[in-house]
Amino acid sequence: MKIAAIGDLHMREDEAGAHRDLFAEIGREAETLVLCGDLTDLGKPREAELLVESLRSCALPVVAVLGNHDYESGCAGEIAAIVRGAGIHLLEGQSCIIEEVGFVGVKGFAGGFGSRMLGSFGEQVIKDFVGETMREATSLENAMRRLPAGRSMVVLHYAPIPDTLEGEPAEIMPFLGCSRLAETIDRFRASLVVHGHAHRGRYEGRTPGGTPVYNVAAQILKPNGKPYALFDL
Ligand SMILES: [Fe+2]
Ligand SMILES: [Fe+2]
Repeated sequence: MKIAAIGDLHMREDEAGAHRDLFAEIGREAETLVLCGDLTDLGKPREAELLVESLRSCALPVVAVLGNHDYESGCAGEIAAIVRGAGIHLLEGQSCIIEEVGFVGVKGFAGGFGSRMLGSFGEQVIKDFVGETMREATSLENAMRRLPAGRSMVVLHYAPIPDTLEGEPAEIMPFLGCSRLAETIDRFRASLVVHGHAHRGRYEGRTPGGTPVYNVAAQILKPNGKPYALFDL
């Protein structure tokens, strides 16, 4: 199955009709579309309505996760309802199967990488921060465990590895993702992982266990010269 993946469209209220031509092109090029979060710019329900309006130019099944921007206005639940109302498979720790390909998705969270990962130690606020990452990783784990064997794609907003963040300022790397997500992915089997969030990162990397990871943020240059990546699964 041909799958197009793109993240970080950041739809704004003053951008009615934006991405319509892009979605129409994807509709001709692929068989499924995956959206890797930051669907909206400020997390406003109106922005989500405009995005689903633009998506009408593409008749494909759509799989999505939310991003941090979709939480900005405290309306993530409303945004999720708008997106689901448009028939999009919004994954928040769930999975779905399209044409025998399994999709599993969570937003993920920050926390850093490898031995430099933020630990659950000290002040309560640090424990809460790490707890949020652990909850996302556990939610991914439960969804991956239920996924039937076969071709599968893990859909995230935050990065599971630092490789696809290369190009971002070193100071913000720990806020762009967390190895706990890669540890979970490597306990199971997935064909590939896509994420967004790192607008200045790098396209391609691998988890320590060898699963290919792609940063498909719209701002990242893809091998096909388009803002979206194309995968054959
Ligand atoms: Fe973004
Ligand atoms: Fe983001």
